Amino acid sequence: MCGIVGYVGQENALDFLLNSLKVLEYRGYDSSGVAISSTDHKINVVKAKGKLNNLINLTNGLNIQGNVGIGHTRWATQGVPSDINAHPHSNSNCSVAIVHNGIISNYIDLKEELVSKHNIEFTSETDSEVVAHLIGVYIEEGLSTKEALIESTKKIKGSYALSVISKEDPGKILLTCNDAPLVVGVGKNKDLYCASDSAALLKYTNQIIRLKDHQIAELSGNGEFTIMDSHNGDFISPEVQTMNFDPFHLDKGEYKHFLMKEIHEQPSIIRNLLGIHLDQDLNINFEGLDEAVFNDINRIIIIGCGTAYYAGLIGKYLLESFSRIPCEIEFASELLARPILADERTLVVAISQSGETADTLMAVKSALSKGARLLTITNRPESTLAALAQNTTILIRAGIEVSVAATKSFTAQVVCMYLLSLHLAAKVKELNPEELKWLKSSLRAIPLIMEQVLSRAEEYREKILPFANKTSFIFLGRGINYPVAMEGALKLKELTYVQATGYASGEMKHGPIATIDENVPTVSILLPGPTYHKALHNLIEAKTRGAPSIAIVADGDKEATREANVVFSVPELPRADEFPHLQDALSPFVSVVPLQLIAYYLAEYLGKDVDQPRNLAKSVTVE
Ligand code: M6R
Repeated sequence: MCGIVGYVGQENALDFLLNSLKVLEYRGYDSSGVAISSTDHKINVVKAKGKLNNLINLTNGLNIQGNVGIGHTRWATQGVPSDINAHPHSNSNCSVAIVHNGIISNYIDLKEELVSKHNIEFTSETDSEVVAHLIGVYIEEGLSTKEALIESTKKIKGSYALSVISKEDPGKILLTCNDAPLVVGVGKNKDLYCASDSAALLKYTNQIIRLKDHQIAELSGNGEFTIMDSHNGDFISPEVQTMNFDPFHLDKGEYKHFLMKEIHEQPSIIRNLLGIHLDQDLNINFEGLDEAVFNDINRIIIIGCGTAYYAGLIGKYLLESFSRIPCEIEFASELLARPILADERTLVVAISQSGETADTLMAVKSALSKGARLLTITNRPESTLAALAQNTTILIRAGIEVSVAATKSFTAQVVCMYLLSLHLAAKVKELNPEELKWLKSSLRAIPLIMEQVLSRAEEYREKILPFANKTSFIFLGRGINYPVAMEGALKLKELTYVQATGYASGEMKHGPIATIDENVPTVSILLPGPTYHKALHNLIEAKTRGAPSIAIVADGDKEATREANVVFSVPELPRADEFPHLQDALSPFVSVVPLQLIAYYLAEYLGKDVDQPRNLAKSVTVE
């Protein structure tokens, strides 16, 4: 949510700032801005409401030169999206400019103090502006920019990643953070960078240093930098990490949208994940994972938000079915709404693509304070979440996910949940060896089957477009496909802004059926397995009330095909004749793809902003 970038070096800062903001635009896209310390030691601030292109067009007409600069792309929290509320914010004489991610929770008190004691006039409605004025006041009192930043952080409360430039120290950028990510990038030719998301730096360097809470970094134009603990004044020798992401992920390639590219990447991501964790003899191997995290656990709590939560809900089904360990799942934000019941025998499994979702991080910290063990599933090894679980993180290895709507991260998270639950099942000996073998070898077949599903994309497009005028949909699934129904509804909501509800099929008759008429299509997942006939019955109940019925069925299906108005067929999964209770165990991988495509095609047809839907941001770093 919001993105920060900064550059100090020998080149013109503006080029880097605009290029890297383009990469971070998925973090927030309601306004953006840059502040550049020019060669004549002025600070030039340019800001624009709306997409980054507005800022690019504005800067095109200006000749802004300077080797030091900071930039920001915003997702509004305090103050409407506008030119004035966009970052960077500066103090009254523009001798200081800052960009901020997070929320300054005591900004009203600080604002009152700055107005009454220093006669400061505020221009924006944001919480962030207080930081620029505070730093400015301390510099006027004779402090250096670094000292002023340290003094300011003693006064501000809340979460922040801050990047600061000032006329007082024209060749420098100062950085600090608390409960919000910020990295330093070390480039070639003495170039130094900063970013709130390391993806912004991929084209420039893969050497990053993650700042820890209360550290102050001072980056200088000669390529030198220091990192200091602001609490005790100690200098820190930096831990440089190498990022392994491929810049290819930042390119749409042959696709019109990142979303479509990411949907099509799913088979290869799964193939790669299985290649790493499931060997030829079908042994599961989590190299580097500290197995002690599983010792003596008697309960599992899965935590996530949005799509990660739905991947976790599939995980709950798997963990309970395969290992019989009691497993709960919680929206991270809800877990914080009551005292969390966890102890040293509780394993918390936190799932987050970004590893920076504020709700998830707070819930994890709360569980850790009760003594719980932690295992994390994330796409970002350099994230705050991964840092909380250094030897107990499973990486989903999906590559950077640019589109705001999660697709490939979902299926990669689901693969990790399968591997984890099968790993635990083998430990507690709940599944018999034949069942385990069938599940693991069937998992191996998934990438190819998904490719076959994707090859039907055009056919799905033709079938869904006649529904483009509908303004309400209900997605239905039972058992392991109930979370998939909710994920399908979430995708449709996010991408088309149309009302869509995901329900457990069996719950329809307990209330939601009242909303059904000929204008509310149902999308039912009806793949072979123990719940098939009950779910089919639920489809018929809805159809009887006039709902146009769409069904996701397997090739060769007869019954649902006869009942539904439109069917989206997918290839059959490996048959589990000896283990009928496992027949639908792997079905989420094939049922979710048509739902992702349905949402994509309707959004594209309706002219929506597929990769950056309104009001959303990729990583939600506020609670
Ligand atoms: O980065 P995370 O996985 O923690 O993000 C969680 C949710 O914010 C995220 O899945 C969100 O729901 C997506 N927009 C779904 O498409």
